[in-house]
Amino acid sequence: MIIAVDGPAGAGKSTIAKLLAEKLGFLYVDTGAMYRALTLKADNQNMDFSDIPGLVKMAEKTKIVLEKNKKGKTIVFLDGFDVSDAIREPIITNAVYKLARLAEIRQIMVSWQRDYGKKHSIVMEGRDIGTVVFPKAEIKFYLDATAEIRAKRRMIELKEKEIDILLEELIKQIEERDHKDKTRKCGPLKIDDDAIYIDSSALDIPQVVDTMLNYLKDYNEK
Ligand code: DC
Repeated sequence: MIIAVDGPAGAGKSTIAKLLAEKLGFLYVDTGAMYRALTLKADNQNMDFSDIPGLVKMAEKTKIVLEKNKKGKTIVFLDGFDVSDAIREPIITNAVYKLARLAEIRQIMVSWQRDYGKKHSIVMEGRDIGTVVFPKAEIKFYLDATAEIRAKRRMIELKEKEIDILLEELIKQIEERDHKDKTRKCGPLKIDDDAIYIDSSALDIPQVVDTMLNYLKDYNEK
């Protein structure tokens, strides 16, 4: 069974998709981490992001593996090295769009992502999972929240890391990322016709997971 969870940055997809996968005993796949890992490699190699053939060649020689450790955390291996923390650095967050907008790179990613679905029941989260990667996914969720709420949640996370940033600045960053995700030509973020839309602005994490589980129950009883 394939469950697709799409939505904008900061809507809580990772936390929620992971919990949902745990409850169901499915494999959780974070496709954003895959785009991030490839961006890290391109950045480390000082690649020119306009050199599409060069980037494709690099991607084809890359191995990205997502593994769950004993504590349940997803570890991201790039060519055998643990890059789980490095891919979350702001420099990567701000650069991913340069790769994610390239049709040639997305094609490679999509084929890697489809491979996961061949072997396991999965909960896969990203931007184009229901629309492109698995258009026939049994269940598709689109998880949303207002930019302000997403920025507030992000601010709390950053405060824990003792990073201070103005809410207005975070809202601006989030809106810019939304714009890039929604307006790229290939695999843009959009709400699929058959996706279940969940606005998590006024919901906490367990409430969202419960909402999803209820939809799943209905699906299984059909
Ligand atoms: O979910 P995230 O913030 O970790 O995603 C990182 C970037 O990758 C983000 O800029 C959007 C992009 N992405 C994408 O284009 N398609 C996906 N399926 C997943 C992520």
